[in-house]
Amino acid sequence: MKKLTLAALCAIMFIGCTTKQQSMENQAVENIMTRVSVRHFTGENISDAQIDTLLRAAMAAPSAVNQQPWAFVVVTDESVIAELGKQLPYSRCENGAACAIVPCGDLSKALEGAAADYWIQDASAATENLLLAAHAMGLGAVWTSVYPIAERVIATQTILELPEHIIPLCVVPVGVPAEQPEVKDKYKTENIHYNRW
Ligand SMILES: Cc1cc2nc3c(=O)[nH]c(=O)nc-3n(C[C@H](O)[C@H](O)[C@H](O)COP(=O)(O)O)c2cc1C
Repeated sequence: MKKLTLAALCAIMFIGCTTKQQSMENQAVENIMTRVSVRHFTGENISDAQIDTLLRAAMAAPSAVNQQPWAFVVVTDESVIAELGKQLPYSRCENGAACAIVPCGDLSKALEGAAADYWIQDASAATENLLLAAHAMGLGAVWTSVYPIAERVIATQTILELPEHIIPLCVVPVGVPAEQPEVKDKYKTENIHYNRW
């Protein structure tokens, strides 16, 4: 009787763990599948703790040789956000964002030679993590382009007073969403090839 009870308990715990694991996977995948670019915000503030979580998610991204050649500029000063919005008209910064986070490549930490440009992929992975975390937290965000458009890179470097070795990849305005854009279905079988083209 005791043995049966123990076995039953183990089975319940196993099923519990499996179900929890599955629901975590489903939540993660659902978060990926429902993320959308949000370009209009309510103007409400977000907390320091929320910003901290976004930065931790960004820095949890993979990077080549785990080099982590990135830096993040968090812009909360309204006048700086306004300047970014003015100089980078596609950055959506003036649409009520609570802050803008600027993922950058740090060339002093980048790999050398042919591998130097891995910073772009590394900072991109960090940016996607940031977007997914924002969505999971009920916040809105959008990746807006800076690099490799020279005039946007220079404008961002100037406004944020970045040292020369810090290259801004993009500007991500973050805030409380004032819109709920429809999720786009981008799945296309013609994009998939198995084994050989
Ligand atoms: C490299 C890159 C640059 C982008 N630049 C801009 C931009 O400058 N302004 C903007 O509003 N959205 C920008 N976006 C967001 C895209 O327009 C958006 O991801 C795309 O339309 C798909 O929509 P979704 O994010 O809602 O799935 C950019 C996205 C990427 C990945």
